[in-house]
Amino acid sequence: MLNKLRNKRLVFVGDSIGRNQWESLLCMLSAAIFNKDSIYEVNGNPITKHKGFLVFKFMEYNCTVEYYRAPFLVLQSRPPANVPSKVKTTLKLDQMDWTSTKWKDADVLVFNTGHWWNFEKTIRGGCYFQVGSKIKMDMGVESAFQKSLETVVGWIHSEVNTTKTQVFFRTYAPVHFSGGDWRAGGTCHLETLPELGSSLLPSHTWAQYRIFANVMSSHWNELDLRTLNVLNVTHMSARRKDGHSSLYYLGPDVGPAPIRRQDCSHWCLPGVPDAWNELLYALLLKHGAKKSTNSSTFHAQAV
Ligand SMILES: *[C@@H]1O[C@H](CO)[C@@H](O)[C@H](O)[C@H]1NC(C)=O
Ligand SMILES: *[C@@H]1O[C@H](CO)[C@@H](O)[C@H](O)[C@H]1NC(C)=O
Ligand SMILES: *[C@@H]1O[C@H](CO)[C@@H](O)[C@H](O)[C@H]1NC(C)=O
Ligand SMILES: *[C@@H]1O[C@H](CO)[C@@H](O)[C@H](O)[C@H]1NC(C)=O
Repeated sequence: MLNKLRNKRLVFVGDSIGRNQWESLLCMLSAAIFNKDSIYEVNGNPITKHKGFLVFKFMEYNCTVEYYRAPFLVLQSRPPANVPSKVKTTLKLDQMDWTSTKWKDADVLVFNTGHWWNFEKTIRGGCYFQVGSKIKMDMGVESAFQKSLETVVGWIHSEVNTTKTQVFFRTYAPVHFSGGDWRAGGTCHLETLPELGSSLLPSHTWAQYRIFANVMSSHWNELDLRTLNVLNVTHMSARRKDGHSSLYYLGPDVGPAPIRRQDCSHWCLPGVPDAWNELLYALLLKHGAKKSTNSSTFHAQAV
C-alpha cells in the first residue's frame, strides 16, 4: 500500500470514528517501516490533538496520511445577526466545511459522517440548520442530514478532479450501547463475542444508513463508480458488539472508566477499523487495475 501511495496524499475527513480508522491505517502502514522516526506529524503536533487536523508523513515514501476533523462535513459557524437567542451556531447545509480547500486536491479522500447528526449534538446545543441566508427553525435532523449529503455529493461532482482524486465514502459505523444510550449509562463491556446469529441493524443505525443509501441511489446516474466508492461497512460491523473500547478508552495508565461512562462507539485497535482499511486497500487495487492498460504488470504488483 505504501508503494501505491508513494508521493501521494491520503485524507480522512469526518468525525472521530473517521479518526479511529485513520489511526488504524497509521498503525498498519507503520508496521512496514523499520525506522519509526521517519514517520512524523508535519506540524509537530502530538497525535493526542483532537481539534483541527493532523498530517502524518511517511518520509521514505513521501506520502502523507491525514485526518481533518469535520464531523458534519458541511460548515458549522456563527449565526447571522438578529436571530433568536437560542440559536448559538448554525450548520450551513449548502456549504462544505471550511477545511475543504485543504483537501480537495488529495489523491485519495475518505469521508464519513453520521455520529453527530442527532438532536443531542445539534438542536439541543443551540445548533440550528441554515440554507442560504435562512435559518430553518423547524427543520428536523434527518432532513438536514439528507440535505448535507446532497451538498457533499454535489461538491464532489463539481469541485473534485476525479481523474486525480479517488473518493470514498464510508457508511455509518454502528454503536452498541445496551441498556441506555451513551449519556444514560449504556454498556458493552460484557460483550465478548460477535453477534453471529443476526444480521439486523439496530434501528438508529438503520436510520443513518437508509438516509445515506437514499441520497446515493438518487444520484446514482451522475456518479459512476470511478467517482465515488462506497466503503460499505455498516452491516459487517453491526455484528461486532464485542469490538468497542468500552471501559478501556482511558488507556492502561489510568485504568478502566466507571461502568456507567463507557465508550461503545469507538473501536479497539487492532480491531474492526483495520478491516475497513483492508476494504479500502482492495478498492484502491481494483481502481489501479482498471486504470492500468497493462494488466500483467498490475497482477505482478498485487502479488
Ligand atoms: C512528494 O509528494 C508531493 C505530493 O504529496 C509532491 O507534490 C512532491 O513533488 C513529492 N516530492 C518528490 C521529491 O517526489
Ligand atoms: C485533473 O487531474 C489530471 C490528473 O492529474 C490532470 O491531468 C488534469 O489536468 C486535471 N484537470 C484539471 C481540470 O485540473
Ligand atoms: C451494503 O452491504 C449490505 C450487505 O452487507 C447490502 O445489503 C447493501 O445493499 C449494501 N449497500 C450498498 C449501498 O452497497
Ligand atoms: C506489461 O508488463 C509485462 C510484465 O511486467 C511486460 O513484460 C510487458 O512488456 C508489458 N507490456 C506493455 C505493453 O507495456
